[in-house]
Amino acid sequence: MLVVLFGVIAVLLWYWWKRHPRSPPSFPGELPIIGHVIAMLGYRNDIWSFIKRVCDYSLENGGLIRLNVGSHIIYVVSDPNDTGVVASTCLEKGFFYEIGKDFVQKGLLTSDATTWKTHRKLLHPAFNQQVLNTFLNEMNIQARNLVSQLTAVAQRTSLGLEAKDQNIIDNNYANAIQEILNIFCYRGIHPWLYPPFIYKRTAWKKKEDDLIRDLKNMINTVIQKRRSDLKANNFVTNNGVDSITGRFKPVLDLLLHLADEEHAFTDDEIKEHLDTIVIASYDTTSTVLQTILLVLGTYPEVQERVYKEVQEVFQNSEDLSMLDLSKLVYLEAVIKEVLRVYSTVPIVSRKLDTDIVLPNYTLRAGSTCILSIYGLHLHPSWGPDVKEFKPERWLNPDTLPTNPNVYVPFSIGKRNCIGKQYAMMSLKTSLAHIVRKLHVSGDISNIKWKYELVLKPANPALMEFTIRY
Ligand code: HEM
Repeated sequence: MLVVLFGVIAVLLWYWWKRHPRSPPSFPGELPIIGHVIAMLGYRNDIWSFIKRVCDYSLENGGLIRLNVGSHIIYVVSDPNDTGVVASTCLEKGFFYEIGKDFVQKGLLTSDATTWKTHRKLLHPAFNQQVLNTFLNEMNIQARNLVSQLTAVAQRTSLGLEAKDQNIIDNNYANAIQEILNIFCYRGIHPWLYPPFIYKRTAWKKKEDDLIRDLKNMINTVIQKRRSDLKANNFVTNNGVDSITGRFKPVLDLLLHLADEEHAFTDDEIKEHLDTIVIASYDTTSTVLQTILLVLGTYPEVQERVYKEVQEVFQNSEDLSMLDLSKLVYLEAVIKEVLRVYSTVPIVSRKLDTDIVLPNYTLRAGSTCILSIYGLHLHPSWGPDVKEFKPERWLNPDTLPTNPNVYVPFSIGKRNCIGKQYAMMSLKTSLAHIVRKLHVSGDISNIKWKYELVLKPANPALMEFTIRY
């Protein structure tokens, strides 16, 4: 009886939406009641192809389309003005983020808008330019390390850990994060696993719980170690400023200060913030670095120009200063163009907590809106060469689109990336050191991409490094 009732309601809703005059066009393949579930499942072994198809369709249809998972509506927006309106009106994250909530709960990425506002303000000082300046020395050291090892991306995170503690993060922790992200992506493309009462009976949930337990134990060790180091050194703190050295604090020290002295965070919240920052920084930065190296290998003339600039800036010194970083203008253009053409985080999403009236359509409260970063980066306002990799476009502001919303690799609006300056600094430092010593060859056109919240190579990204003499 209940099933029949739900069925009738779903059909009514479906017809109502079909007739709604201000509803955006539907993605092909919609069926009564279940909406686009079958269309989604057709792509379950290649999530990126599905997301790309949907985002391309949004671009081809004026920048806004709709999908239905059952009666739940998902809009996909790639019009820069509409995206700006949604991002500034709605600060709650889309229902996909619920999938990660058992793990990172109140971390910035998944928290509800009210918690996010308070916590983001508290964490902000840890990403202040003055803190970042104190990391440059360590970034230089790690970049030199990377040049000699050229294995995985070795970089000190802004957690403020000693290198040996950082190793815990780099190895076991990072592997476990990778596994848990795979589980989240699997659940994301299998709608029948969305309801918690079904999901909690599956082997996936059991595996997720095991990983969460291991991850919490690992991060706990790091937190306790840092806490006792700080106590042993008797660091006196005041409003995030380390009164012994006069420096702002890296994020772990700031979190501990806020928890122990101001009681602003519980121990669980510290873990959730650290896990979030590792998730948000690790895959993104390492994938972008790998992609840029592949691009440099693919375009030898671009690599030579970067090499010349890097040589001029380094002169005879071993490391880069903050002033040096600001002189690496062409390298910065290359990084920006890679972030545009190969959108590392291709989509983010919001929950619409109110009806949004746009010039052409009305988006309904309670639905989800995917903001297509990938689509904005390919918006026609970039010009006819939008799909070409052309770092030069960044050297002449007159050739760039006037609407700033078409370039948002670190997301759009207030809920954007807190680590964007850190990311740019560490990318510039690593790349300058690598290009100065090594020549890279590779071919990005052979790469097939996969989506794991971050867009990354699905097949081994082969590169060859030769030493420059
Ligand atoms: C090139 C590298 C990076 C890219 C492309 C990137 C991109 C993004 C994007 C698109 C978001 C929004 C995610 C969403 O709404 O679902 C985000 C959020 C975030 N990122 Fe990054 N990120 C990068 C590096 C970093 C680094 C290095 C850190 C930390 C050191 C970091 C920390 C965060 C955090 C904590 C959030 C959540 C912010 C909030 O909601 O207040 N990211 N990032």
